[in-house]
Formats: sequence, C-alpha cells, structure tokens
Amino acid sequence: MCTVYYGPVINPQSLTDYLALPQCLICVSPQGNIEWLVEDVDSTKLNDVLSQHDYAPSDITLICLDDGEFLMPGLVDTHAHACQVPNLGVGGELELLQWLDNYTFPTEARFKNVEYAERTYPHVVRRIVNSGTTTCCYYGSLHLEATKVLASLVHTAGEFTLVKCNMNRNCPPNYIEPSVKESVDTTLALISYIEELPKSVSGETLLHPILTPRFAVHSNPELAIQTHISENKSEVELVKSLFKTNSYAETYDKFHLLRKNTVLAHGVQLTEDEMVLIAKRGSGVAHCPTSNFYLSSGMARVGMLLDHGVKVGLGTDVSGGYSPSILAEIQHASIASKMLAIQAVDNKKCKCNGGHSKSSSSGSEDTHSRGRHGHKHHEYQGDEKQPGRFTNQKLSIATLLYLATLGGAEVCCLQDRIGSFEQGKAFDALLVSVREDDTGNPAVWGYNPDRDLTHGVTAQSADNSLIEWLERFLFCGDDRNIKKVIVQGRTIGGRDYHPLR
Ligand code: GUN
Ligand code: FE
Repeated sequence: MCTVYYGPVINPQSLTDYLALPQCLICVSPQGNIEWLVEDVDSTKLNDVLSQHDYAPSDITLICLDDGEFLMPGLVDTHAHACQVPNLGVGGELELLQWLDNYTFPTEARFKNVEYAERTYPHVVRRIVNSGTTTCCYYGSLHLEATKVLASLVHTAGEFTLVKCNMNRNCPPNYIEPSVKESVDTTLALISYIEELPKSVSGETLLHPILTPRFAVHSNPELAIQTHISENKSEVELVKSLFKTNSYAETYDKFHLLRKNTVLAHGVQLTEDEMVLIAKRGSGVAHCPTSNFYLSSGMARVGMLLDHGVKVGLGTDVSGGYSPSILAEIQHASIASKMLAIQAVDNKKCKCNGGHSKSSSSGSEDTHSRGRHGHKHHEYQGDEKQPGRFTNQKLSIATLLYLATLGGAEVCCLQDRIGSFEQGKAFDALLVSVREDDTGNPAVWGYNPDRDLTHGVTAQSADNSLIEWLERFLFCGDDRNIKKVIVQGRTIGGRDYHPLR
C-alpha cells in the first residue's frame, strides 16, 4: 500500500533556490520511492487529486501533518568518524596533529576490542540517525571486526555509506596496520562482508563501501577514496615534505586519487589552483566548519569552492566537530561565511585607506537572501551568470539548505536517489515540528496554537510561516524537533520512533 503525506514541505532545488510548499501531497510507494508529488493541493481537493492518480482513499495510508509540522529531505553527513563519538567535546584546546595523537588515536584504538564495538556502536548510530542524518559517510577504525559491527548496524538502521579506515605510516605503534597487504586484505574482507548483507525492500543496496586512506600522512597511495585534505597548516607542510609535492591536492592527484567519487574533508587551506584541479577532477569537498573552529584549523572558503564549480556538502567530522548534528554545521557554515565576508570588506577598506581603516563592518551585501516576506519560489535575486557570486558572500538559507541535502548528495554521487523530493527518488525525509508544546524545545520560538508567539497564522501568512519555521529549525532546532527520520519510506529514528515498544 502507498503512503501519502499531506502538508507543508520544504524542497531544495539549487544552490540559490528552494520551494516552501504549505499544501504539498507526496505519494510514497511500498518500496519507499516517491511515486508522484503535487506541489499545491487544497484540502478540499485531496480526493480529486488521489482519483486523478487512480487511487481510492481506501488504497492508501494518508498521513496529514499536524499544525507546526513540516517535511524536508533528510540531512547528509559527508564526513563522520563513528569511532570518535566517545570522544565528543574533549580536546578542543589542541590543534589537529597533537589532537590526533593525544585524543583521537587512543579513542579509536579501543575498537580493537569487538565487545567494546558491540556496546558502543549502537549508541553512535542511534545518535547520528536521531540527529536527522539519513545518509552518512562514516569512517570506522582500523579494525575489521569492529567495522563489521558498525556496517551491520548501519545496514539494519537503513542509512547509506561507510568503510574502515586505512593507515600504515607515521602512526602510533598500537594503532597502525602492519603492512599494505594486511590493509588491502582486511579492506577487501570488509567489502565482501558489506556486499553479502541482504538488500533493502526495494532491492537496492543502501550501504556502500568507501575506501578510506586516512590522510596523505598515513596512507599508501595504493588505497583510495574518502580522505582528508588541507585541514591544518602544519599538516599541509608535513604532507608536502613527505611526498615532495607542491600542494596537498597535487599529492593525491599524483596517485590518481582525485576522482568523481572522492570525498575530500575540510579543504580549509586549499589554494585557488588546487580548487581548479579538484573541480576538474570532479571530486567533492566535505565542509566541516564546527571541527574547523573547534580545532582552530580556520575557515574553508566555501563560496570560492562553489564559484570554481567544486561540489560541496557538510560534514560533522565527529569528534573534530563536537556535535553529531548537521544542524550545527549549517549554523557554523553560516557564521564562517559571515566572518569571511566581514574580513573581505575590512581588507578592501584597509587597502583603500592605505591600511588605516578603523571602521567596523557588518559584512558584504547578502546578494542571495530571499525577501523576508518571500513567496513560494525563492528565486536568486542577483545575476546568475555573474562570476564570483559566492566568493566572500554570506551563505543564504537556500545555499545552507542545499549544502546539507542535495549538495551532500552530489558529493556522494547520490543526487539521482536522494537530497530532494522528486519523482523516482527515495523518500528520505525528516518530519519536523517547531511546536514548543509538542517538542519541549523552547529555543524554537515557533508556531504554538495556544499562545501566539510570533504572529497570527492565517491562510495568507501560512507560506511565510513555513519559511520562518525552516529558518528557526535550522538555527535553533535540535533532535527534539525531529519527530521522524525516514529512509526509503521507512521510519528509522526520531522522537516518535520507539522500536522496542
Ligand atoms: N586528519 C586525519 N585524521 C583525522 C581525523 O580523525 N579527524 C580530523 N579532523 N582530521 C584528520
Ligand atoms: Fe575527519
């Protein structure tokens, strides 16, 4: 039987556009794919639209959203270390290389013990799913057995993507793969294990292996394809000296590791020449701003990456980032872009004034922002063809939403299956509520029918409210606002999900 959802829907379209649809109808097949979607259906016309699609009301399960609820695509985390979750929130006073030695490697080394993995990973996957992440590029630890545990849990939960980590040089003695052969053998064993896991209801494989040489410092070039790049200045210098290359990107390119399906985490220190090379190779960047602030790495120039045509998604980089939620990345990506915009204006003023400007700046004009009282379609206000339209600009809500959904999907080469609501795509969705009485999150100053906290919601202003609901959720929301996490039509998490009851 198909499931038909009716109510407010947010649907990302492009880097500068999303749709806010107050009365949208989405039909999901028993296999979990979107059969059809009608953007605007008056409640009095529901049965007409169903019968146009040859459904009688008795043929379907109809789910009408409550007041203050909306659907949006599930969030994509393009970079998360599952084995570092036990270290969340500790060690942020250090920078990358010292942090790895003092906190990260000891945390990951514990996964040598399979029982520890069996105790820990269920909580890790549950937290990440309940944060609204429906697709995740996980890094496991070095250990085959522990990573099988993780693979099997992710598979059962129904998320996408993963694989273990490979590292065989410049590592601590208790956390290193003894040889290239062993690294290759265990990786192949893991791939076979993942390939033998049963398929989903639709017959589709949700769990995909990704080869994971940890970063150039650790990896033998024979292995590929999800890795770190140019996160920290000392790391970049170390890589250039180890490989005798001129840049980090060149190092990977020399070994043919920059491919269409390569996910490069961070890219904080990338030069424009490296961005051009990465764009040419079609690789994507996982922007991890929480981690980049927390480990004092810097701010990735996301706008410039986009202007060079590089695919960009968001990544939590737990535990370099202290939050497992992509919402934190949206918030920090916004702040990072504002800081870059402020700096750019200040630098320009400094140059004009011979370097003596004292004026403070509120940043550059936000050329991408929607009108406050926008309507259904959030068209880009500026000149689409203008070069440099993102460089040193604040990221708009449309862009942030895109990076968290469709952008992440592109980085994972899954844009034809996930990232937005479109006929034929998997129905990966979050059912969000902004009602304080329902969610217990007073930080979201949202719609509350008993107390008019914002302004009256009338038919005329409903559309506008949906836009505000989204923005409030992105900046003030958390797990409490996510009632359902749905992957391929199946609820796998969220506040309303109680599998054991
Ligand atoms: N570079 C190599 N390994 C890591 C890691 O675990 N986290 C981060 N943030 N950067 C890395
Ligand atoms: Fe990382």
